[in-house]
Amino acid sequence: SQIKEVEFVKSSGRAKDCPKDDRPEFAILGRSNVGKSSLINALVRKKEVALTSKKPGKTQLINHFLVNKSWYIVDLPGYGFAKAPDAARMDWSSFTKGYFLNRETLVGVLLLVDASVPPQKIDLDCANWLGRNNIPMTFVFTKCDKMKVAKGRRPDENIKSFQELIRENYQQHPPWIMTSSVTGLGRDELLLHMSQLRNY
Ligand code: GTP
Ligand code: MG
Repeated sequence: SQIKEVEFVKSSGRAKDCPKDDRPEFAILGRSNVGKSSLINALVRKKEVALTSKKPGKTQLINHFLVNKSWYIVDLPGYGFAKAPDAARMDWSSFTKGYFLNRETLVGVLLLVDASVPPQKIDLDCANWLGRNNIPMTFVFTKCDKMKVAKGRRPDENIKSFQELIRENYQQHPPWIMTSSVTGLGRDELLLHMSQLRNY
């Protein structure tokens, strides 16, 4: 399940502009600033494959990266970017929803959830939307290294509360993995998990 090679393929502004290809792919989804681009870089062990930023809203397009010439990892714009005007947020959701509903080669969504903050309604809404549309997802908790915590709650406490809220809506809790792009926590586990999903 190791990564030998990563190639940036293209950025698409619309679902129908995505590469026409039958190789399997994983989409990385989550709030702005949750660490989507950083996770991609940590997985491939390269600093700037995917561009990251301290300011939310860095990734604006659907970005396809081809791994080992055999599967794609897709960096998406974040949702819930508070500073975006409502109109832009609407656009975002219709174009990203179009991608999720029409991309036949999508084997799974990695839904990134920031473990350094308490559960956010927008993440639960997103998980429920994916669930209703039968899109397989894995929760990837990010920033598990962060010990400077919001409201005095540690990452493991935030994760536990989030999971309790998810359990209210699912008969089976989707798989989940704890990660940190800083320490590399969860990297091997996530790569193994993705290789199992591809071969399923
Ligand atoms: P958008 O493209 O704006 O949606 O953001 P994104 O989800 O791609 O986030 P990005 O990877 O650009 O990271 C946002 C910020 O969080 C950066 O300052 C990162 O350095 C920081 N960050 C990302 N992952 C981690 C992590 O695991 N631990 C810590 N401590 N910081 C992280
Ligand atoms: Mg990004």
